[in-house]
Amino acid sequence: MSTRLVSTLLANRTRTLSSRILRPLLPAVNRIPSSLPSCLPPMLPIRSAAASLSTAAPQRMDDDLDNTPTAWVEPDNRVTIRFGDYATTSFNGIWLRDHCRCPSCFHAITKQRLIDTASIPLNIKPSSMAVSPDGKTIKFVWEDDGHESVMDLAWLRQHSYNPKLAEKKLLRDKQLWDASIAESLPIVQYKDVMANEEGLAKWLEHIDVYGIGFVDGVPATPEATEQLGRRISFIRETHYGGFWDFTANLEHGDTAYTTLGLPAHTDTTYFTDPIGLQLFHLLEHRGTGGESLYVDGFHVAHQLQTLHPWAYDILSRTRISSHSAGDKSTLIEPTYGRPILNHDPTTRELYQIRFNNDDRSTLDHLSASEVRDFYAALKEWIKLLRDKRNELWTQLRPGRAVMVDNWRVLHGRAAFTGHRRLTGCYHNWDDYRSRVKTVLDKKTI
Ligand SMILES: [Fe+2]
Ligand SMILES: [Zn+2]
Repeated sequence: MSTRLVSTLLANRTRTLSSRILRPLLPAVNRIPSSLPSCLPPMLPIRSAAASLSTAAPQRMDDDLDNTPTAWVEPDNRVTIRFGDYATTSFNGIWLRDHCRCPSCFHAITKQRLIDTASIPLNIKPSSMAVSPDGKTIKFVWEDDGHESVMDLAWLRQHSYNPKLAEKKLLRDKQLWDASIAESLPIVQYKDVMANEEGLAKWLEHIDVYGIGFVDGVPATPEATEQLGRRISFIRETHYGGFWDFTANLEHGDTAYTTLGLPAHTDTTYFTDPIGLQLFHLLEHRGTGGESLYVDGFHVAHQLQTLHPWAYDILSRTRISSHSAGDKSTLIEPTYGRPILNHDPTTRELYQIRFNNDDRSTLDHLSASEVRDFYAALKEWIKLLRDKRNELWTQLRPGRAVMVDNWRVLHGRAAFTGHRRLTGCYHNWDDYRSRVKTVLDKKTI
C-alpha cells in the first residue's frame, strides 16, 4: 500500500488535533499579567505628531478605496501600518529598528543580529516613511541617525503583534490515532529514506503527523540501523551510551535491560530535556512474547480533557520529579520537576507528555489534598492509557525499524522469553525539529 494511501486512510479515521484543543485551564497566576511591571521606565512624554511626517492617520473617505498600504506615527511613537485590505496593526519604533534586516543590522548568511540593540533610543521613531510603488516594502528613515530600513510588508504582517494579524499555524495537522492504526501503519521504505530528501521528508512527515514512523526493508544490522537514525540527526549520547545494541543482560540498572514487560511510558523523564526521538530495530528474537506497545499520548490526553477536565488540569499543573539511579555512578534528576502534560506557556498548546511511572521520584512537596488529587488524576490517566482501544500492539521484526516521537507517543513491551537483541538510538528534540523545518517544511526565518 502506498504511503499516500496509508496517510489518506489514517486521515479519514483519525482525529485531527486542532490547535484550539488541549489547552489547560490554567490558574490565574500562569496568565500573562495585563499590566507591565512597574520597573519599566515610563513611556516618554507624548510629542506632538511630527509635522514632517506625511503619514498622519489618513481619513478614510467613502470614496477612498485605495488599497495601497499606509503608515503613520502615533503620538506615543508607535508606527501604525494599515495594509491594503485595511487590516491595521502597530509596531513600537524600537522593535522596528531592532528588526531591521539591512546588511549592517542583520547578517544575511548567518541570520544573526548585528545591530547593537542597547544603542537604540527607547523612544525612537522614523522621521519619514515610504511604501514602495509595488506596495511590497516600506522604507523607514530613523530620526536619530538617518539609518534607512527597508522592510518587507508581508514579513511585518506575519510578525505583527499589536494586534496579531497572522496566526502561527502548524503547517500540517497532527492526526490522533488509536489501536486501529495497526491496520494501516505509516510506513516508508528504507531505500527511499536513504536515497533522497523526498524519501526522508515522507518519513519525517509521518513522525510529525502521527508521532510514529515505520521503515521497512532495513538491513538487519546495527550499522544500517545506525545509518538510518543518522539520516535524521546525530545520535544523542546518554549514560546508556550512543547507538545501543542490547540483550536482556542488565548491563544497565534499568528494567529495559530485563525480560519484564514494560507499561507504556516515555523515556528519560529524568532529564531536564528529555530525548526527542527514539529509534528501535529488533535484530534477533528466538523466544516468545516481546510484542511492542505504542500509545498516542496526545490522543489519550484529549480523551482525559474531555472526560475528566479536572484530572487534565491537575496533571498539567502538578510538578513531579523523576530519577535515573540504577547505575552506581549515575543520579540524574531534572533541574526542577515537570508536569506529565506540558503546555507551551505562550500558546497553551500541549507539546510534551512526560510520563514514566516507574521512574517517578518520591512525592514530598505537595499538600495532603494535592497528594490526593494528584493520585486521583493519575489513576484516570493510567486507566485511559491502558484502554485496549488506545493500544497499538505490534511485533517488531528484523527489517522493520520504527522511530517514535518521545514527546508524544508512549512505548512499552510485553514480557518475553529467549534471546532478544534490540538496537536503536536517541535523538534530540530540537535537532529532529530542525530536520522537519529544513527538509520537509523548507522553512526560512
Ligand atoms: Fe523505554
Ligand atoms: Zn539596518
